[in-house]
Amino acid sequence: MGSYGMLARRAVETETPIMVEIQKLLRGVKGAVSLAQGVVYWQPPKQALDKVRDLVWEPSISRYGADEGIPELREALIKKLHQENKLTRSSVMVTAGANQAFVNIVLTLCDAGDSVVMFAPYYFNAYMSFQMTGVTSILVGPGDPKTLYPDADWLERTLRETKPTPKLVTVVNPGNPSGTYIPEPLLKRISDICRHAGCWLVVDNTYEYFMYDGLKHSCIEGDHIVNIFSFSKAYGMMGWRVGYIAYPSDVDGFGAQLLKVQDNIPICASIISQRLALHSLEAGTEWVTDQVKDLVKNRSLLLDALSPLGEGAVKGGEGAIYLWAKLPEKYLEDFEVVRWLAHRHEVVVIPGSACGCPGHVRVSFGGLREDACRFASERLRKGLEELVRDGMVS
Ligand SMILES: Cc1ncc(COP(=O)(O)O)c(C=O)c1O
Repeated sequence: MGSYGMLARRAVETETPIMVEIQKLLRGVKGAVSLAQGVVYWQPPKQALDKVRDLVWEPSISRYGADEGIPELREALIKKLHQENKLTRSSVMVTAGANQAFVNIVLTLCDAGDSVVMFAPYYFNAYMSFQMTGVTSILVGPGDPKTLYPDADWLERTLRETKPTPKLVTVVNPGNPSGTYIPEPLLKRISDICRHAGCWLVVDNTYEYFMYDGLKHSCIEGDHIVNIFSFSKAYGMMGWRVGYIAYPSDVDGFGAQLLKVQDNIPICASIISQRLALHSLEAGTEWVTDQVKDLVKNRSLLLDALSPLGEGAVKGGEGAIYLWAKLPEKYLEDFEVVRWLAHRHEVVVIPGSACGCPGHVRVSFGGLREDACRFASERLRKGLEELVRDGMVS
């Protein structure tokens, strides 16, 4: 054991990041195709990339910027929040991605020992953010067995009966890992329950533009609500690391506390990335929806690939870039199935146990162009047919 015993419990007792394990698996299987990582296949708008290419020599790019984000970007985001999200009483802090935004929020709103609420299947990184900040009492609520919508009755009961009252409830809309969206009336009900109980509600809107079949994403606002957003998926900016927090302007001291956290983690989001974000916004939401609309083809390819699992096994996919599938009853050890699929069928997905639901898998339909997705889905279909018919044969 040696010095291992001297490592912080906050780190040691935090889950291992599933994406790191999956990347290791991918590296170990030559020729494997990935339906695992939550990424999109496109790059940022060309006109935006062209503009930042010319910016690298500008001295301001190499300096620190304002902790809360460069003024031009914050101004553009406040306008966007007003016009698109109907958020009119929110202030903005730009972060190095939505994951960092979430950690900022947990550090700003929760103390070690507080309890918090999430819904299964949950976003693994949010779970880890709680664990590593000492918020180890994580109450995981159920989703509706058919729709996977967060169970608001359970939430009402839990917030009423748990003493002390949980500090924060978080949802992802539309969801990772399920791709389930939360209809506005349900989101409002969740918000009312939180407000009543005196509890924060944190909504992760990373996939706000990723809605299909005519469904519409909506945001809500209140003095107990924080909204988180990301440039990663919409604008293909995963590696540039830009996200933002919309927090209630009317809550005294909220911004000041957030700044303490921000100043000790990134200081500010990368300046060139913020400039790219600004120019990407200029390309407009039409640019984003134009990219997103083609994903329905990938989704239908993967729905077909998952069909060997039988009727009712596949859920979600109304939004985001994910389908959520239940494996046959006996495969609770879903990582075993994931490894088997990788080694025997050269296709990689995410085990549901990483999201609090053993016996499931998450499949991403965002990372591959249609042809590559067709190829991957053929492998997945073959693999699942074999799994259902013969088991994990070698
Ligand atoms: C729900 C959710 N939130 C946050 C993130 C991370 O986004 P970012 O790259 O902006 O940190 C992801 C990425 O997969 C996500 O799915």
